[in-house]
Amino acid sequence: MTFLKKVTIKGTGSYMPERVVPNSYFEKIVDTSDEWITTRTGIKERRMIEKGQAMSDLATLASASALQMADISAEELDLIIIGTSTADMLSPSTGCLVQHRLGAKKAVAFDVNAACPAFIYGLAVAQKFMQDGTYQKALVVGGEIVSNRLDFKDRSTCVLFGDGAGAVVLGHGNGLGDGEILSTDIESDGDLWHLIHVPGGGSRLPASHEMINEGLQYVKMQGNEVFKHAIRTMVDSAKKIMSQQGITSDEIDWFIPHQANIRIMDVVAERLGIPSEKVIVTVHKYGNTSAASIPVALDEAVREGKIRKGDLVLANSFGAGLTWGATLFRF
Ligand code: UT7
Repeated sequence: MTFLKKVTIKGTGSYMPERVVPNSYFEKIVDTSDEWITTRTGIKERRMIEKGQAMSDLATLASASALQMADISAEELDLIIIGTSTADMLSPSTGCLVQHRLGAKKAVAFDVNAACPAFIYGLAVAQKFMQDGTYQKALVVGGEIVSNRLDFKDRSTCVLFGDGAGAVVLGHGNGLGDGEILSTDIESDGDLWHLIHVPGGGSRLPASHEMINEGLQYVKMQGNEVFKHAIRTMVDSAKKIMSQQGITSDEIDWFIPHQANIRIMDVVAERLGIPSEKVIVTVHKYGNTSAASIPVALDEAVREGKIRKGDLVLANSFGAGLTWGATLFRF
């Protein structure tokens, strides 16, 4: 029988672009209102990058902050995973660019493309490689620059998303009270790929004047279909890992659902039996930041002193693919 090593979160970090875009901005460019956006999504404002900023810029800043909290130097890292669907370039991976920027010479670096749950996917991969002792110190980032994938003429998508990055540094636990990633669940259903997708810019429809003229470089989404699947998958995944660990919802100290829509978050929390005061909420100020949503909310809750050492935290997410997943950890 293999002895599995304990994997713990040693530090968290995040970086949100400084440019604040309030709902009123969209009232000027599409047929929408602050009232519609607020009541249907809970979003009041979001952050968007300045022209010229790229995923590795945000990821490097979030990572530096997590490394500082963990008191671990970049040279000690042996694994870097960036969860993102909005890499700097089609090749190489943003992981390699972040490795270069941090000077993490001995790490292996790569990206995980799994839309909004990409951070949870990255955490699951890192956990497995660390549990068996292959790697000792890992950096997992969830980040996204969705703003330049948005069609600012499509009111059903452009009001929903924002940019940002969050990171965690993982190490092995040194004993009691050190926290532990207890469980991760990652799932997907490729039959539903068409519900959220960016058709152009890849190998199916490479960059061309025609592709750009048709706006195929932008996010296409059937929002209300996604809404239904989001609730079902987030509830199922969370219940699955809680039952695997023999944990009931009243034992959860903090719940971090994917910050896509306050209505989805409320229903999921209610179905899991988690009271609203235990739910971490950032959607009002950041919108849906896709893969950044969970690590950013985690970092803010830690820095605000809400999530403390020893707390039991449940996080779950869903997104394009469709993909979904959950994680349960003692911080
Ligand atoms: O990270 C995963 C990414 N995906 C998601 O998180 C999406 C999940 N889905 C949602 O959050 C919601 O479905 C939306 C917020 C996208 C939409 O809310 P909804 O309550 O499902 O609205 P709907 O799509 O059913 O549209 C209702 C109406 C439609 O008008 P009609 O056909 O009833 O006349 C839309 O055209 O609302 C209209 N509408 C808008 N009106 C004003 C859609 N977008 C807007 C808008 N402003 N921005």
